[in-house]
Amino acid sequence: MTTANSPMAGKRVILAVTGSIAVYKAIGLLRLLSQQGATVHVIMTESATRFVTPLTFEVLSGSPVTSDLFSGQEEMKHLSLTAHADVLVVAPCTANTLAKLALGLADNVLGTMALTLQCPMVICPAMDGEMWAHPTVQGHAKTLENRGAIIVEPEKGPLASGQWGQGRLAAEEVILAAVQKVLQPRRDWLGERVLVSAGPTREPIDPVRFLSNGSSGKMGYAIAEAAAARGAEVVLVSGPTQLECPQGVLHVPVETANDMLQALAARFDWATTLVMAAAVGDFRAKDPHNHKVKKDQWNGEALQLERTPDILLALSAQRTHQRMIGFAAETDNLVEHGQAKLQRKQLDMLVANQVGGEDSAFGNDSNAVIVLTPNAAPSPISRVPKRQLADILLDRMKTLSVSPQSQPSALHPLS
Ligand SMILES: Cc1cc2nc3c(=O)[nH]c(=O)nc-3n(C[C@H](O)[C@H](O)[C@H](O)COP(=O)(O)O)c2cc1C
Repeated sequence: MTTANSPMAGKRVILAVTGSIAVYKAIGLLRLLSQQGATVHVIMTESATRFVTPLTFEVLSGSPVTSDLFSGQEEMKHLSLTAHADVLVVAPCTANTLAKLALGLADNVLGTMALTLQCPMVICPAMDGEMWAHPTVQGHAKTLENRGAIIVEPEKGPLASGQWGQGRLAAEEVILAAVQKVLQPRRDWLGERVLVSAGPTREPIDPVRFLSNGSSGKMGYAIAEAAAARGAEVVLVSGPTQLECPQGVLHVPVETANDMLQALAARFDWATTLVMAAAVGDFRAKDPHNHKVKKDQWNGEALQLERTPDILLALSAQRTHQRMIGFAAETDNLVEHGQAKLQRKQLDMLVANQVGGEDSAFGNDSNAVIVLTPNAAPSPISRVPKRQLADILLDRMKTLSVSPQSQPSALHPLS
């Protein structure tokens, strides 16, 4: 393959080198990435500079190495570099740096950069076998993996300590393959038809007033965007939001819970997956007014409410072949309430998230959730940007088995 048609051509890679005995292997990796056509910017931890001087990496990468958070010239580099990077590769990654990344410590360039990262992160640990097997280190690797990082596991073999074990930095070709894989657009949802609901619903009290909630729609829109990017046909049934419909997604705007039910039910047979990310209002005014209620017409009487239709329950009764994924927004007892909803509505997966308070899922660009599936332990996903969370959730949805009761209709949802 020539450099021009290599998947790495024109990609901007940040190579973060930390203080492991395997630092010298990062030189080979840098050369391989450059040969593949990538532009590589190297950052080094202070410990790494004790093993190999920055000069080596500067000469081979053709650009200055960033290692000091406070040196004037590199001020704010941690922000400007991440804004344009396609991937951050940490190789070799020490046990110390793995812990810092998992905990979000920001006392050096790499830690600070990792907290502003918009691109995938590939982490290649290298350490003594006993260190790698330690539950704390394994826990940190799992935390980062749950947050969407790719961990390229160390290899088994003779170690610097003279012992034999799993701890050697993965071979540069293995690291390159992992980097190429994250940079390649994934098309693993090709052939799938995904029906997503998003945003709040609005129930009128009179023509100018309504009952609604604070859902921004960002999570549902992120899932629609991610599924379309990964090859799925996507229909997004959305309550009123400020968001633009993602490219390649068919937008069906609705207002009330009833509208949303009708729009989803009409396309349910078409779909292979339903993702119910909308925050559907549970109540509506029993007798909404046809005319605006004037201030002086109101004598203090209470607003009579009634329940809106339960969309998931209604669709669950019509289900043939679809994967069904629900969301639960809870202020307390997240897992307990989520498990009950999962069971009651016969879902394949339920994503429970916290609303209310500072970390509320509503309106935030990032979210931390707990994924519940039947017969499995709750699986938490730590706080990540919603777009990244969407990809992690799609990975999990893909593994849900679809019942072969009937084939989905091939009709387009609007035909
Ligand atoms: C000779 C030598 C080799 C080391 N090799 C490793 C290693 O392979 N992996 C590791 O996790 N730590 C290793 N360490 C320890 C790290 O250098 C140390 O934890 C340091 O604080 C890491 O800093 P950093 O993560 O900021 O680069 C080594 C230390 C020495 C002195």
